[in-house]
Amino acid sequence: MIGFIGGGNMAEAMIKGMAARGIKDILVSEPRQERRQHLEQLYNLKTTSNNVELTNGCNVVVIAIKPQNLSAIADELKDVDFTNKTVISIMAGINLSTLEKVFRTKNIVRVMPNTPALEQEGMSVMSARDTVSDNTINRAKDILSSIGKILTLPETLMDAVTALSGSGPAFIAHFVDSMIEAGEKLGLARDIATILAIQTMTGTAKLLSTGITPQELIKMVASPGGTTEAGLNILNNRDTKDIVTQTLTAAHQRSIELGKKLSG
Ligand SMILES: NC(=O)c1ccc[n+]([C@@H]2O[C@H](COP(=O)([O-])OP(=O)(O)OC[C@H]3O[C@@H](n4cnc5c(N)ncnc54)[C@H](OP(=O)(O)O)[C@@H]3O)[C@@H](O)[C@H]2O)c1
Repeated sequence: MIGFIGGGNMAEAMIKGMAARGIKDILVSEPRQERRQHLEQLYNLKTTSNNVELTNGCNVVVIAIKPQNLSAIADELKDVDFTNKTVISIMAGINLSTLEKVFRTKNIVRVMPNTPALEQEGMSVMSARDTVSDNTINRAKDILSSIGKILTLPETLMDAVTALSGSGPAFIAHFVDSMIEAGEKLGLARDIATILAIQTMTGTAKLLSTGITPQELIKMVASPGGTTEAGLNILNNRDTKDIVTQTLTAAHQRSIELGKKLSG
């Protein structure tokens, strides 16, 4: 049985992906009654408001609460034996050392997922100690592969991962929003500009995922003296790469700060 502590947005994304893959035997513990009802009705699973009951009944426990709620569940679960359980934490900023102390086991995988998981197009990066069993790693991979791609990286890179793929969907959405607003200024109706911007982003992402590099794609679209080159000149002159670097650097810095605050 796979248990989720916390039945919020990211837990639902994972559950949706798992349900689509036919993974059953899911239990969710969640304090809010309406949220429990929502998950039960949509995914035909069982829920509880009792974290101890959930943990005792599951061999894989996904920690999907906000990091600031960890101390509350640590206290509640202090008598639970996690020795033979796999703990998968998706909490931003909580490191493996802290997780090992809280759950008193080494069978832990730390994961940074992202919101496109809701459409099974997520990017999850996982970190674990070298000593973690293959069984634990495979259990985590099994669950995470239902919501998109997975990479395994050293924990020291988690802040950079948080800045790029964790926060990234918001940065990309910001760019799309700017495209929509710019399209409106050029006379397109908002709904039309929205369709054009979203399909252009989706199509571009698909093309790039075939292995074409961003530079190659730019060359494919831009011909000398043409419309694309005219637009690219503005992007290059305003040094948008520097703005993106600053954006990711700020997110990276904040991730380090929050990690220090949350994990000590
Ligand atoms: N969203 C993202 O893009 C993203 C990306 C990467 C990682 N994450 C990580 O994923 C985790 C969950 O994020 P989220 O966006 O899914 O947050 P969320 O929607 O707020 O979900 C957290 C859920 O946990 C419940 N909860 C609170 N205290 C609890 C307790 N003691 N026992 C059981 N459940 C409890 C909350 O209920 P109440 O609402 O009643 O408090 C809420 O339904 C976070 O740690 C975040 O760092 C999120």
